[in-house]
Amino acid sequence: MTVEWRGKPVWIVNRTPEMIERTEALEVDRLADPDSSVPQQPAYIEGYMRSIKPEIGVLVGICTHLGCSPLFKPEPDAEGVGTTNWPGGFFCPCHGSRFDLAGRVFTNVPAPTNLVVPPYRFDSDEIIVVG
Ligand code: FES
Repeated sequence: MTVEWRGKPVWIVNRTPEMIERTEALEVDRLADPDSSVPQQPAYIEGYMRSIKPEIGVLVGICTHLGCSPLFKPEPDAEGVGTTNWPGGFFCPCHGSRFDLAGRVFTNVPAPTNLVVPPYRFDSDEIIVVG
């Protein structure tokens, strides 16, 4: 689902165990910043899924290149992505940037950094508070 936070779209993504396995299996040399060394997330967000719970992704839905909103392409080799060996993730149609299901940017695309993870917390199993 998409919610709004400070005028920006924030995606809440339900990631299946299979999607998490696919993300973990991704060759890190395909990613520009696999360990999120550029701070695009709160300090308490750790791990390759870049989230509090691996199965729930929370990402600002704005491309880090020039601000278009990428498309959710969760299936491997989804049509229209224009690349081979696509593991599923987010594809920006404006200039072709690609991000994995954790919002990590691929190499050789215009976007310079991973997608932003906003500050958030779980108030319960069903309620996420963003901000
Ligand atoms: Fe997304 Fe340029 S705005 S690739």
